Amino acid sequence: MRKNIVAGNWKMNKNVIDAQQLMFQLLEYKKNNATNCDVYIAPPSLYLMMAKDLYENNEIGVFAQDMSEHESGAYTGEISADMLKSIEADGAIIGHSERRQYHGETDSHCNRKVKLALDKDLTPIYCNGETLEQRKSGQHFEIVKNQTEVALFTLSAEEIKKVVIAYEPVWAIGTGETATPEQAQEIHAHIRSLIANKYGQEVADEISILYGGSVKPDNAKEIFSQPDIDGGLIGGAALKIDDFAKIIEGFNS
Ligand code: 13P
Repeated sequence: MRKNIVAGNWKMNKNVIDAQQLMFQLLEYKKNNATNCDVYIAPPSLYLMMAKDLYENNEIGVFAQDMSEHESGAYTGEISADMLKSIEADGAIIGHSERRQYHGETDSHCNRKVKLALDKDLTPIYCNGETLEQRKSGQHFEIVKNQTEVALFTLSAEEIKKVVIAYEPVWAIGTGETATPEQAQEIHAHIRSLIANKYGQEVADEISILYGGSVKPDNAKEIFSQPDIDGGLIGGAALKIDDFAKIIEGFNS
């Protein structure tokens, strides 16, 4: 059965002292509270080793915010899948809309990155989602279909089962505007049915599909209660322990 997951994407926030403090607070929280979901963080890459050292029993999954599509070599500033594997990171976020917007990433890049991550036994958290204009013009189902097909549908059934998908409508990221639970559910169901049509229902049912975009303590529970929403990829609200903990508790009955 697929996992429930709450993952914090810290983006480009926190100096080393503040990062260490939040990692530590999260570990304390995890030790003292039973959670009904897996908890991951994606801190800036500079702090990944620190997180791995602190979470020595793998209490919390540690993910990069991106990784290179290349194996190694002259790619200044990039981080490779092998490097992530060598510090025992769990995986990487791939295709976040901020990577697409500011770094020109496309679904073809995502396809290569997802495949490389899987080849190195890392879990890709593949992000997709439409812009405001695309939603306003009613193209959101088609856009998400295209993104999913280009980025993922060259994978085998065994491979795609290991991918986590995060639907993040661009208009809901960092804006305070959240997709309604119904809006998110219908796209999640759409993504799952695309996978079911291509790979079969059994495969589709194994894949965790997370929602991202202004998830907060007061809306997490309702969003997570939707049948095809298996958790959240959290930005701003992952930066404070109290907020992040309350979101994790969105899975408590
Ligand atoms: P916010 O939760 O800040 O809207 O960010 C969502 C996101 O981009 C997570 O990857």
